Amino acid sequence: MTSLSSLVTIERHILDQQGQHPGATGRLTSLLYDIALAAKLIARETTRAGIANILGATSDENVHGEKQQKLDVYADQVIFRMNDHTGRVCVMASEEHDDLLPIPAHHQPGYYVLIYDPLDGSSNIDVNASIGTIFAIHRKITPGDGHGTMDDVLQPGSRLVAAAYVIYGSSTMLVYSTGNGVHGFTLDPSVGEFLLSHPDIRIPAPGQYYSVNHGHHKYWSPGIRHYVAWLQALEDTDRQPLEHRYIGSMIADFHRNLLRGGVFVYPANERRPNGKLRLTYEAQPLAFIAAQAGGYASDGIGDILDLQPRDLHQRVPVFMGNRDLVEKAEWFLRRFDRDLLAEYEKRR
Ligand code: AHG
Ligand code: MN
Ligand code: MN
Repeated sequence: MTSLSSLVTIERHILDQQGQHPGATGRLTSLLYDIALAAKLIARETTRAGIANILGATSDENVHGEKQQKLDVYADQVIFRMNDHTGRVCVMASEEHDDLLPIPAHHQPGYYVLIYDPLDGSSNIDVNASIGTIFAIHRKITPGDGHGTMDDVLQPGSRLVAAAYVIYGSSTMLVYSTGNGVHGFTLDPSVGEFLLSHPDIRIPAPGQYYSVNHGHHKYWSPGIRHYVAWLQALEDTDRQPLEHRYIGSMIADFHRNLLRGGVFVYPANERRPNGKLRLTYEAQPLAFIAAQAGGYASDGIGDILDLQPRDLHQRVPVFMGNRDLVEKAEWFLRRFDRDLLAEYEKRR
């Protein structure tokens, strides 16, 4: 039997962490706890998906013209509703909505900005593979106590107050950082609590895996082709290749590489000159977590955390994981993709 003294709930952990910050008001603790609660509700629906007849696409498309899955809609609404009336959030933004999600007029706006990808890896819902949710939290930077604006949402990742993701896999896990290391909790469904299972996660070295969609090889630049060939040690007799894993759910691929060491890559390609992933609610929060775990995230030129977003749904090339593996990508791009990088830099 587990000794009770070794059980650390997410609530206690967040409180302890906040306690280390003089002047902490507990508002962030409460916000993270609200997020954990939303995650439990989404986890419950993911496990009941088949039975509850919630599988399958709705007839709507989201702002990117992709078919919305029913779970996307559910997750999106749960997160909004859990946070629209608490007085802790001044504005929200989600992958599923073109514009900002204001706090309803009859509720008091709060101090934090919440940006989220409600369901990441949604093409995996119908085939029962791992999916996730991603959260990014900023402080309000515009003056006054009122509602947040686009300026509050479009902040560099280096200013994040906290980031978290939830992975709905063989078990449900919540991984978060408030800038004081990375901590992982596993949901115990029998008691309905997230319990500390992975304290102080550090990305192990050397990296073991690389994750990239090889089906896009045809559209890759010379730099990406050379980089992936290097990961595979094709021209190197005395170096072992990295193992390849790719499920098409960034959270699942990122999580594996965080625990085992490795690099997740979603580069720009001929058809997607800025890559596919979105800066504010996919790349920034994971870059923050990667850095807090001792890793690094780059857009191929430099640190993703230094990028100033221009648009809520802006896309960005992504290389993240062990620092040496990510810096190697930057090296290959500098060497083989000079003109492409110069073009990208103008849009950056
Ligand atoms: P989302 O489901 O939120 O739209 O994100 C899907 C993303 C990401 O999770 C994954 O890494 C990537 O799309 C997969 O894209 P490809 O199928 O092009 O590899
Ligand atoms: Mn996503
Ligand atoms: Mn999504």
